Amino acid sequence: MDKSNTVTCTAPVNIAVIKYWGKRDEELILPINSSLSVTLHQDQLKTTTTVATSRSFQEDRIWLNGKEEDITHPRLQSCLREIRRLARKRSNDGDPALDSTCLSHKVHICSVNNFPTAAGLASSAAGFACLVYTLARVFGVEGELSDIARQGSGSACRSMYGGFVQWIMGQKDDGKDSLAQQVEPETHWPELRVLVLVASAERKPVGSTSGMQTSVQTSCLLKHRAESVVPGRMAEMIEAVRRKDFAAFAELTMKDSNQFHATCLDTYPPIFYLNSVSQQVINLVHRYNRHYGETRLAYTFDAGPNAVIYTLQQHVPEFVQAVEHFFPPETNRGQFIKGLPVKRVALSEELKQAVGLEPMPKGISYIISTKAGPGPRVVEDPTQHLLGSDGLPKKTLGCPAAQNGQSSTEQ
Ligand code: DP6
Repeated sequence: MDKSNTVTCTAPVNIAVIKYWGKRDEELILPINSSLSVTLHQDQLKTTTTVATSRSFQEDRIWLNGKEEDITHPRLQSCLREIRRLARKRSNDGDPALDSTCLSHKVHICSVNNFPTAAGLASSAAGFACLVYTLARVFGVEGELSDIARQGSGSACRSMYGGFVQWIMGQKDDGKDSLAQQVEPETHWPELRVLVLVASAERKPVGSTSGMQTSVQTSCLLKHRAESVVPGRMAEMIEAVRRKDFAAFAELTMKDSNQFHATCLDTYPPIFYLNSVSQQVINLVHRYNRHYGETRLAYTFDAGPNAVIYTLQQHVPEFVQAVEHFFPPETNRGQFIKGLPVKRVALSEELKQAVGLEPMPKGISYIISTKAGPGPRVVEDPTQHLLGSDGLPKKTLGCPAAQNGQSSTEQ
């Protein structure tokens, strides 16, 4: 297989502080409101994808986390079709930089996450962002790609940039103006920290795609939110980010998460993403902030019970200690805290008393400590390719369950 036709890239996860919930077009994935997120650092959370093209490949194929998946999935097909269309357009326009030979070739795609799917993090955002970014490199497509990533999964368009990213909902029927845009780069607010509190999973909640469909059909609160609340909040949030005003950023983040979950409750039949652990985290955050008389912490929850906490670097050690106190873990500290190292500090009796919650043993499995990070990247080292020279997943690379093509299709 021609080595030059194999490209590997990585892409980040993002966590929204103004939530996307509801589509006005299911196929093009056009949202009913704009949204804004923080891109998380890829040192802690990332998807890695290798795409190879070769004349010898018989068909397009994809392996996700070691298992061959169905390439005919409509959203995968949308991304492949759009990238090939742009590549063909460039080739027809006579772009001399474009190697058009691979245009007629089939692709093999192999993708792995460096975090467990069980962590309940929106892996589809990093996954589709990485797929689109890598395909674009392979086919020599440049320029705006967030509208293509959006057609894989709405939130994926925001993972095409680092730092603070808004997804502008757009107005056009063809979705051409529904794009992600960087508000500030990851270097803008270096003190900002992100803690993902992975709640011990009970069962798989309703997926976001079907959940938001039911919300659009049944919730008048969602309609009110999209039309009358989010536009103002987007403007305030962008201002808060630009000014690095943590209190304003945190309050908007919490209110928006709460309103999103209120629209889930207003959906008929209702959708419950928050559980008793989530509620305990919400109480902990509000009581902690009240104790200090200032907003030092913010929580936000996506379509599941895991809390994502935004705070400033100086407050991380004490808050992590408080989490350990109010959710006594089964494991030792080394296993409980992953990612950026966190100093151990003593928790004051005043704080414990001010919070005054009954500890919930093992409510949180572990914490991932991270910060804002950059957008997708090309991995230059060819030894990191996930596909071997035979075009099949390597058995060794970060892909423990990887099978070769034959055996994985037989499963
Ligand atoms: C709650 O992007 O996963 O995380 O567009 O149907 O793939 P689809 O949905 P998805 O929804 C994410 C919803 C959310 C909020 C957010 O990330 O803005």
